[in-house]
Formats: sequence, C-alpha cells, structure tokens
Amino acid sequence: MKNIRCKDYETLSKKVANSIIKQITLKPNSVLGLATGSTPIGTYQALIEAYQKGKVDFSQVTVFNLDEYYPISKDNPQSYHHFMMQHFFQHININKDNCYIPNGQAKNIEKECRLYDEAIKQSGGIDLQLLGIGTNGHIGFNEPGRLLHMNTHLTSLKASTIEDNARFFDKIDSVPTKAITMGIGSIMKAKKILLLVSGQKKADIYKKLFEKQLSTDIPVSLLQLHLDVTVMVDQEAYSSEVISDTIVG
Ligand code: GLP
Repeated sequence: MKNIRCKDYETLSKKVANSIIKQITLKPNSVLGLATGSTPIGTYQALIEAYQKGKVDFSQVTVFNLDEYYPISKDNPQSYHHFMMQHFFQHININKDNCYIPNGQAKNIEKECRLYDEAIKQSGGIDLQLLGIGTNGHIGFNEPGRLLHMNTHLTSLKASTIEDNARFFDKIDSVPTKAITMGIGSIMKAKKILLLVSGQKKADIYKKLFEKQLSTDIPVSLLQLHLDVTVMVDQEAYSSEVISDTIVG
C-alpha cells in the first residue's frame, strides 16, 4: 500500500480530487466507486470547484456508491441519496441515470443486491474506488465480524457505528440499524482504491491498518491484499509508529 501523508485535511482533499480528475482525464467514461461520511466532503467540494473552472467533465462518468441505510427513503435528508445529491451530484454535469446508490426502500432486498452487483459488472467494473474508514475498521458498511460478505448485501450496523453516525441524526434512536452495502469482494475488484483517513479519531485504526495481519475483525485490513491501494492520511490521523513507505504530500 502506498501511504501519502498530507499536512492537513484541505491538502488531502485537494490531492484526492486531483487523482480523481486525472482518472477522468485519462478515461472520460470512468466508473467511480464513491463513499459518504464526513471525510470525502472536502474532496467533493474540490471536485465541484474544478468542474466550475472547466477542469473536469463528468458527463460520461458512472458512479456506484458504497452503501445506503435500510430502510430509508431517497428524500430523507439522512439518506445517502440525499447526501450525494447535496454534496456532489447536483453541482456537476453528471448524468443522474448513471449514479447508482442501493435503494433503501427495496422490497426485494436479495434482488436489489443482485442487480446492483450485475450493474457494476455491466459497467465494466469500478476503475477507482474512494473509501473512508469507520473507527472500528469498517469499509462501506462491512462491519467487523467472524464472516465478511463478498457481494452487495443487507447488514446490521454495530453499536459503535450507530454511535459514530448518530451525530448526523437528531437522536441516536433515529439512526437506522441496517444498511445495504457493497461487499468486500465488490470493493476488492476495483482496479484502484483510494483510502481516506482523516482526524484524530482515526489514529488508532490507521495504525492497525499497517499491522501486517489480516482479520475479519478489522475489515479494512483486507485491503493489504489489493495491488493498487493508496492511503491518503492527514497529520492528525497519521502515526509515526507505522512502518510503511510514506510519501509526504
Ligand atoms: C459511514 C460510511 C462509511 C464511512 C464511514 C466513516 O459509516 N458507511 O463508508 O467511511 O461512515 O465516516 P466519517 O468519514 O464521517 O468518519
């Protein structure tokens, strides 16, 4: 894994945005895997600014988002549909028909998950996957546990995830306890992965990422098996204890 240390969140966000712009410049019809959470918001802002300056064209891009709460409606302000529209899609020239997010109101969940994986396959696969990280090491909503799933599936959120995400809701009881998420296999099939780690509260999980052990209890550790992962870390989350080739960005 390549490890790029950035002096602050703003620098990290700009660098990640530049990598995405480079990807789209090289392949205008790129397929991007995108993430929610607070970490990628700066990246989306930087991409919107680049778009407004004419530096990037999203017209041929396809997006698959990692996950969505379940059950939740698309227009619920806490849904990831709403998040993506508000923070990114409505500000750029992406074709909304090419923006895929699991349906948080699907009646037939198994079918929804199967069709989601099929759509990823039909698109030619994800060229660049953006990932954040939960404090417990989850990616997407692939939570720590004895077993991890390959494909898109319905999952139950851990208490720690519900607590972490409660800040976006009026009260903890309003946080959905389930979600539809892409599986570890779907993530690992992406050609390139950019993992964003920002802030003091991610310092512990960042260290674990480089412990050279794989564990389903730390889902993000499986990224060590992928051949093209770049970890973008800011100073607050970085630890000098980590033994890895680090580029200062
Ligand atoms: C949610 C999302 C993850 C994201 C995580 C971290 O749980 N499902 O994809 O990585 O939040 O969020 P934040 O960046 O706000 O710490």
